[in-house]
Amino acid sequence: MREGNVSEGIRKIEWARSRMEIIRRVGDRIKKDGGLSGVKVGMALHVEAKTAVLALILQDAGAIVRLASCNPMSTDDDVSAALMEEYGVDVYARKGESVDEYYANLNRVLDIRPNIIIDDGGDLAYLVHTKRKEIIQGLIGGCEETTTGVLRLRAMEKDGVLKIPVIDVNDASMKRMFDNRYGTGQSTIDGIISATNLLMAGKCAVVAGYGWCGRGIAMRLRGMGARVVVTEVDEVKAMEALLDGFAVMPMHDAIKNADIVVTATGCRDVVREEHLMVAKDGCILCNAGHFNVEVSVEDLEKISVRKRKVREYVEEYVTKDGRKLYLIAEGRLLNLVVGQGHPVEIMDMSFSIQALCADYLMAHREIPPGVHPVPSEIDRHVAKLALESRNVKIDRLTSEQLKYLSDWKAGT
Ligand code: ADE
Repeated sequence: MREGNVSEGIRKIEWARSRMEIIRRVGDRIKKDGGLSGVKVGMALHVEAKTAVLALILQDAGAIVRLASCNPMSTDDDVSAALMEEYGVDVYARKGESVDEYYANLNRVLDIRPNIIIDDGGDLAYLVHTKRKEIIQGLIGGCEETTTGVLRLRAMEKDGVLKIPVIDVNDASMKRMFDNRYGTGQSTIDGIISATNLLMAGKCAVVAGYGWCGRGIAMRLRGMGARVVVTEVDEVKAMEALLDGFAVMPMHDAIKNADIVVTATGCRDVVREEHLMVAKDGCILCNAGHFNVEVSVEDLEKISVRKRKVREYVEEYVTKDGRKLYLIAEGRLLNLVVGQGHPVEIMDMSFSIQALCADYLMAHREIPPGVHPVPSEIDRHVAKLALESRNVKIDRLTSEQLKYLSDWKAGT
């Protein structure tokens, strides 16, 4: 399955690797301790340069790695070709693969009977608990990268069907606060600009969802000079958006004046027929959430009389009343389909946590089935390495301060 340019893929991987000091140090430690030696790791992640670095670090630590994509459109074929030809990693992924190919590739990952699965969106965990139940025996545990995957795993846990321990990497502080906010913030803007070549300044941009991702997107759009409106269903988050200085209103009102709508909710039908019917002429619709369900493409097709491709990743829909609406990347997560994913330094931290959690699972086989938080020592270790990689030093508590903080009688 080699479609990309190997030397270009090597360049992309080596550039990322040269800037991923944290995971290099993490990899050295794991290799020295030998915890992943001979361990079979099955991964479904976005196949791009930073993911390749994770795969190589695990492989160098002695793991047997097999990789498929967690999205049919996000694979960088150059990277996947280089991984296979130059670095000897098994990759089953192709940009633009069909849904059938996508699942066939996930199944190939499971064919190695992995000891550890690393998921982004929960599809490997889903298969293991449905069509490939034989894999559970021999599986020590899993790690989940993203909000959507964690939501699925928690639903499985609630229904009593989750049979393995899974570490919720998404909610580690060193992941969520930086990857979801600064990573998604920057990579989403990168995706919109690459897809459209339009100016953000002066635009009215609507951000649906004010979780960590939505916060990052709203913050960066404001930084580019857009007037940002936030839509929410959660009262607390809506209040937070308001006090952060954004206008807050329902989608039905917001979309009437929107030049751009970006969804980042993890939910379906956030932009649906009732909204599309009143959307401003020329409005650009895009999604930064994991699945392509946030903008209802079905409804967009239903209210339109024709569509045509106007740029590589932009589809123009003409509605029955003559308005033009533009959908980026078929409503799939645009920061990976159009853009290059999160910045290198962000994935350095996120994937360091992944590698350390895989190692942790192998060292703690007693962990019961269920969704588990990232151990705080892993979070702290990655924070320490992240500061060191930037040559940033911080203060230490004195012994008097330590004593004061642990003395409940200290008072005044
Ligand atoms: N690169 C690899 N995985 C990614 C993710 N989940 N989000 C953004 N960029 C990525």
